[in-house]
Amino acid sequence: MHALTLNAVSKSFDEKVAVDNVSFALEPGAFLGLLGRNGAGKSTTLKLITGLLRPTSGNIQVLGHDVVAEPLMVKRKIGVMPEDMALMEMLTGPQYLRFVGRMYGLEDAVIESRQRELFQTLDLEPGPRTVISDYSFGMKKKVALCAALLHGPRVLFLDEPFEGIDPVTSRTIKEILMTLQSRGVTLVLTSHVLEIVEKLCPLIAILDEGRLKGFGPLAELRGTSENLESFFLGLVGGQEKRELSWL
Ligand SMILES: Nc1ncnc2c1ncn2[C@@H]1O[C@H](COP(=O)(O)OP(=O)(O)O)[C@@H](O)[C@H]1O
Ligand SMILES: [Mg+2]
Repeated sequence: MHALTLNAVSKSFDEKVAVDNVSFALEPGAFLGLLGRNGAGKSTTLKLITGLLRPTSGNIQVLGHDVVAEPLMVKRKIGVMPEDMALMEMLTGPQYLRFVGRMYGLEDAVIESRQRELFQTLDLEPGPRTVISDYSFGMKKKVALCAALLHGPRVLFLDEPFEGIDPVTSRTIKEILMTLQSRGVTLVLTSHVLEIVEKLCPLIAILDEGRLKGFGPLAELRGTSENLESFFLGLVGGQEKRELSWL
């Protein structure tokens, strides 16, 4: 059974086609980097997979469950770190995790011990009364990651996890993702930072204007290109010379 399958998935917003007939499948334990420039359809694709949006056509299965027909089944098994993080900022980090943990039906004692372990692993040390709205951006990203991991998801989706993150925090997050992969968790992250994806993700998908332009193991995809960047630019453009006439 695949961890994730997309069959001819499309999503339109009025006349705008954000995701256009995308199909691919992931084996359990895969680590996919979904690449594409701004507006390529990466976030929309993740929202479709995680049940936040409904496809206009096509279907999606996560661990054998149809996302539209069995939304709760899917939500129990996945963790999601959305691009906007969707935190409840008037709560403290531990309060927010308690809320999330209870939503998943976890015992308070389990929630508390996991929360401590997560905070420790991520070097997250907020003041005991500090609410999330007063956290730094990096701390908010970390809390969002903790919330996504609390219930032990088998498939994890991260939308731009390294966006706006300092190098130290970035490395901590990378290490956690690699640990998860070694435990057999299936991972999908989106990014427009090629270097990160190139180092972290053995499997790459490239979206351009909603269409899947490339999918496969990094080495295979890159082929004879010098690096992922030249392959990517060759595929999605950006070669044309631009001029600013007044400068
Ligand atoms: N809720 C929405 N309503 C209308 N258009 C949307 C909506 N969400 C995304 N889009 C459009 O779909 C396209 C893909 O967006 P998105 O998936 O956010 O791209 P990416 O994450 O790759 O930057 C963009 O043109 C965006 O403006
Ligand atoms: Mg996005």
